[in-house]
Amino acid sequence: MREALEQPGLISLAAGFTDNPSLPVAETRVIIKDLLKGKKGPSHLQYGTTHGDEPLRKLTAQRLARMDKRPKKGKHYNPDRVLITHGSQQLLYILNEILFDPGDIVLVEDPSYFVYLGIMQSHGVHGKGIRMEPDGLDLASLETTLEKLKKSGQLTRLKALYLVSYHSNPTGTTTCAAKKEAALKILKKYEKAAGHPLYLIEDAAYRELSFSGEDTPSALSFHSAANRVIYTSTYSKPFATGLRVGYGFLPEPLFTAAARVKGNHDFGTANFLQQILSSAVANESYEKHVQKLRKRYASKAHAMTRACKKHFPEKIKWEIPEGGLYLWANLPTKVKTDMRSKLFAESLKQKVLYVPGNLCYCDDSTRRKPNHQMRLSYGSASIKDIEEGITRLGRAIKKVM
Ligand SMILES: Cc1ncc(COP(=O)(O)O)c(C=O)c1O
Repeated sequence: MREALEQPGLISLAAGFTDNPSLPVAETRVIIKDLLKGKKGPSHLQYGTTHGDEPLRKLTAQRLARMDKRPKKGKHYNPDRVLITHGSQQLLYILNEILFDPGDIVLVEDPSYFVYLGIMQSHGVHGKGIRMEPDGLDLASLETTLEKLKKSGQLTRLKALYLVSYHSNPTGTTTCAAKKEAALKILKKYEKAAGHPLYLIEDAAYRELSFSGEDTPSALSFHSAANRVIYTSTYSKPFATGLRVGYGFLPEPLFTAAARVKGNHDFGTANFLQQILSSAVANESYEKHVQKLRKRYASKAHAMTRACKKHFPEKIKWEIPEGGLYLWANLPTKVKTDMRSKLFAESLKQKVLYVPGNLCYCDDSTRRKPNHQMRLSYGSASIKDIEEGITRLGRAIKKVM
């Protein structure tokens, strides 16, 4: 893919990058100038702590309680539970280190975030795919999978369910609040047979990039969440991907374990980057920026769906995105989309790149990996390139079909 990206004139609808022209350059410039003036300047250029900047932890906890419409004094929203990390990606990696042993099993959406699948693979952790429905996780599929694991004696190896709960990567699906609550109850039911806690890792990386529909509360907001929900999210996507500041809400004993591992990795996320975020959230330039981004991505998503309608054959289906950065297209099953497929080669010939859908499925021997889908991103390409890219892709698809 890297080689392909180096081709001149190639339009990439593959990368999960954000929109370049709307990155908050002016706001960040003002904040940096302010941070470096006066007596406090040097302290911002000093090391911070492993857990993260205290004001940022507090602001992060308050924002989440507000989004979830819960009192900020609620136990689940205590700033002491917040760990600031180098992007949420670092936290996902640390969670794999502290929670799983090689040979363990994690339930994932089928399909799921392929970089997470890579982390699992590198730790020798096996995935089991849970089917998805338009309103999120298929609870029947979750229960059947748990029952099968119990019957085969494998439940003792199951440790968690990983869920990209808002505008998921890659399909754009949001799991509704009722399903998250039900999933927690189902996991709890199987804990006794598992012999240990079964965690829900809720990855909310795209929550703030909603552009239509109501926000749904996180799994932390449920009473039953007690000590079983790990919430991960990020300031990357809604503010600046180059700052790479992420965070998580972790119950004990996981918080202490994760902070210890983070201490070994880097003893704290870059202090200066956290100070920038802290100022942006406190002076509301963050909130204003998020509002602007939502409109921007709504128009880019609209440009993409309009172009798909015009240039794709009728047999190709997709859901209209309500947030996030991705459109998931389903082709007829006989049209393969993997990197060795005729379609991938033809797309490269037409100078357009997509993410083959098969990369987003875990290695689950109980089913064959689907190979007729693609993830298309409207994040980084301009509206003109989105239109041109979909025109080229439509041409490639028609030729192969
Ligand atoms: C679902 C999901 N989770 C987490 C991340 C990590 O983002 P970051 O490390 O920038 O917070 C990404 C990035 O694309 C993502 O798509």
